[in-house]
Amino acid sequence: MRYTKEDDARFQKCLCELAAHPDVQILKHIPQHRGSTTFAHSVSVANCAYHLAKKSHLKVEIQSLVCGAMLHDFYLYDTETMPYSDYRHSLIHPKLALQNAEKRFKLNARERNIILSHMWPIPCSPLPRCKEAWLVSIADKMCAWKEMHK
Ligand SMILES: [Fe+2]
Ligand SMILES: [Fe+2]
Repeated sequence: MRYTKEDDARFQKCLCELAAHPDVQILKHIPQHRGSTTFAHSVSVANCAYHLAKKSHLKVEIQSLVCGAMLHDFYLYDTETMPYSDYRHSLIHPKLALQNAEKRFKLNARERNIILSHMWPIPCSPLPRCKEAWLVSIADKMCAWKEMHK
C-alpha cells in the first residue's frame, strides 16, 4: 500500500500528542545509550518504525505503532544505578515497561505485544505477533546501534 500525506499527518499528530503527554515527558529524565535519553530514543524508534512501514508498503495501525514505540522502554529507571545486571535488565524491562504503561494508559492487545516483544529474540521474549511489533523490534535495534556508535 502507498502511504499518503494524510497518513504522514496522522503519524505526526499521534506522535506529537503522545510525546507531549506529561507521563511520556518523564522519559526526558531517563538516560539511555551514551548521552541520549529514553525520550529521544523512543521518538527515534517511532520515526524509524514508520519509515520502515512506508518503505515496505506495509499497512499498519499508526496509532498503535506510535504508542508501542513511545512506551516500549517505559521502565522508568536509570540503568547506571539500577539494582539489576545488564543481562537481567534486558530480560525484565519489557515487562516492567508494560506494567508502568498500563498504570497510565489504556493499551490494546497490539500495543501490549509491541512492548512485551520488542527485545525478541532474547531468551523468553514473546514473539512479535503483528506487523507493528516486528517493525518496532527492528527499529529499536537499528536506533540502539546508531546511538551506541555515534
Ligand atoms: Fe528496550
Ligand atoms: Fe529501546
